[in-house]
Amino acid sequence: MLAGFLKRWMPQGIYGRAALILLLPVLTLQLVVSVVFIQRHFEGVTAQMTRNVLIETRYLVDRLDAAETLAAAGLAGAQLGQALQIDVLVPAPGPGADLRAFWDLSGRVVVETLQDGLPGLRNIDLVSNHREVRMVVDTAQGPVELRVPRGRVSASNPHQLLVLMISTGILMTWISFVFLRNQLRPIRRLARAADAFGKGRHVPYRVAGAAEVRQAGAAFLDMRARIERQIEQRTLMLSGVSHDLRTPLTRMKLALSMMEETEETRDMLRDVGDMQRLVDEFLSFARSDALDDMVPTDLSALVRRVIEDAARAGHTVNLETSVETGSILLRPQAVTRALENLLGNAVRYGTCAVVRLERLPHAVRLRVEDDGPGIPAARREDALKPFSRLDPARNQNHTAGVGLGLAIASDIARKHGGRLVLGDSTRLGGLRADLELAI
Ligand SMILES: Nc1ncnc2c1ncn2[C@@H]1O[C@H](COP(=O)(O)OP(=O)(O)OP(=O)(O)O)[C@@H](O)[C@H]1O
Ligand SMILES: [Mg+2]
Repeated sequence: MLAGFLKRWMPQGIYGRAALILLLPVLTLQLVVSVVFIQRHFEGVTAQMTRNVLIETRYLVDRLDAAETLAAAGLAGAQLGQALQIDVLVPAPGPGADLRAFWDLSGRVVVETLQDGLPGLRNIDLVSNHREVRMVVDTAQGPVELRVPRGRVSASNPHQLLVLMISTGILMTWISFVFLRNQLRPIRRLARAADAFGKGRHVPYRVAGAAEVRQAGAAFLDMRARIERQIEQRTLMLSGVSHDLRTPLTRMKLALSMMEETEETRDMLRDVGDMQRLVDEFLSFARSDALDDMVPTDLSALVRRVIEDAARAGHTVNLETSVETGSILLRPQAVTRALENLLGNAVRYGTCAVVRLERLPHAVRLRVEDDGPGIPAARREDALKPFSRLDPARNQNHTAGVGLGLAIASDIARKHGGRLVLGDSTRLGGLRADLELAI
């Protein structure tokens, strides 16, 4: 439960987590120290100082009580008060009231200590003058007001330590965060480069940072170079072979058409035609990697165009819902090709197709549904593999395909950081192909 709670509420990014790891102990420490230690410490000091003043005040009040007249009390108060640093106002100028600011925590201790120890105390005023404690005390001659400097009853500036602690804490946290950010930046760059490469983009990346990050960065660069080299080699080889096969095939076709037309030559001509189509498919499959670059493209316009082309070719293809995607970074020719392949399948194995363009949180989804026989769940993975054609009986009536259409579409989706998902169309009963592209 705790793990789930932490997972939900922990910041997701590395900066947020680092800040939390950095701040949490510092804040907890400061809080505990200030509440438990400082608070108690200052309370103790304040109580002690107030008790000292209390002894003097009691002595002063005794002397005032002992005076015979009000004038004598005033004189005694003035003399003694000067010696004790207590201002004595005889008689008290006003009745006064208990006053203390709510944030004045040490004031609470002062008030409690004085109330406990001074019998004739009427009220204590800490607010009228922040630098003084004003008390109205009953004496034999009537109420008098005593004013004691605040510095004598509570430690001056008890908040200084807190302020110092917090400001130093903030400063140190900020400094360490700056350092930490410099350490985290290379990790973020590596993550961005790896993410972009996964989506088929090549962003410049330079190894930097701490030893471990450099190691991971160097490994990533090696891996990227190897994958790119392999793709290049595969493309070269496939296109080389298919290209070289074209010439002899054309020659064979020519030779066959020159020969006397018989059943056999007709069959051979058809075979050669099939081979030529296969070779062309090979060639375009091999080239699909080098097809085009990522450019900002209006996907909704692209989809409409492909559907219009299909409709013009005599197919029943409808665009049912479409969001306006605006400009998205993608490979327009590749996406066109993927959509054409899906539509081609839909009208080849079914009779009509419905297309939807929808927006997901971090992707767009092109959904193609048809009314054909669909593909059973167990065969879907196979259908996505290159050169795989399912169920020969089903395909017999149709013009022979190569088995590359879905493989190419899936490849293109992956190059856009997305995927091709096959499912059942609930509306039309055939196949549902979802081409998801990350944005
Ligand atoms: N919409 C669909 N409905 C039913 N089956 C399908 C559908 N799309 C594909 N399939 C099955 O999946 C197999 C693979 O499809 P894929 O598009 O990769 O190749 P293909 O259509 O046979 O040939 P190509 O597209 O290369 O001309 C097809 O042979 C077919 O059996
Ligand atoms: Mg196909």
